[in-house]
Amino acid sequence: MNTVFVRAKSICAKPRQVALTLLTSLLLGVSCWVAAADMSDDAISERIKPVGGVYLADAAATAKPSGPRTGEQVYNGACIACHGSGALGAPKFRDAAQWAPRLKQGIDTLQKHAIAGLNQMPARGTCTDCSDDEIKAAIEYMTSGL
Ligand code: HEC
Repeated sequence: MNTVFVRAKSICAKPRQVALTLLTSLLLGVSCWVAAADMSDDAISERIKPVGGVYLADAAATAKPSGPRTGEQVYNGACIACHGSGALGAPKFRDAAQWAPRLKQGIDTLQKHAIAGLNQMPARGTCTDCSDDEIKAAIEYMTSGL
């Protein structure tokens, strides 16, 4: 036992011991190299992710809503049919004399009447998909400057 201990500690170890030591360090080295490869969750999911992922941001951008129409657009699309010529007794486009008594009611009442309809004036002036704000914008456009 004593001689083995002395031999192990000696610098000039037997060739077989040297070979064993080398083999051990080689194995250790290889396992360290494998462990050094990136094993983080991110790195693994990056390696195994499917090819050809779809980027959806562009699809959302092209499907964006068109936004509210201007008073001019609503007027030209619906109101002009009667208010352009005064058909059915509609107050004409920017006709001060015809609009004056109506404007006295205030924009809120005018908007209410236009939304609900008034006598020959159909509800929302036939613009069924117009928002309340779009109706108001059309009234303001028709009476602008009066
Ligand atoms: C089918 C014809 C017609 C269309 C289309 C029409 N109007 Fe009229 N509008 C009328 C008539 C007729 C009156 C007058 C009603 C009355 O005082 O008896 C009127 C009156 C109004 C008034 C005055 C209401 C009041 O209280 O005096 C407003 C405001 C108005 N229209 C807004 C609009 C807007 C905004 C549109 C389009 C979105 C529109 N109208 C489309 C026929 C129409």
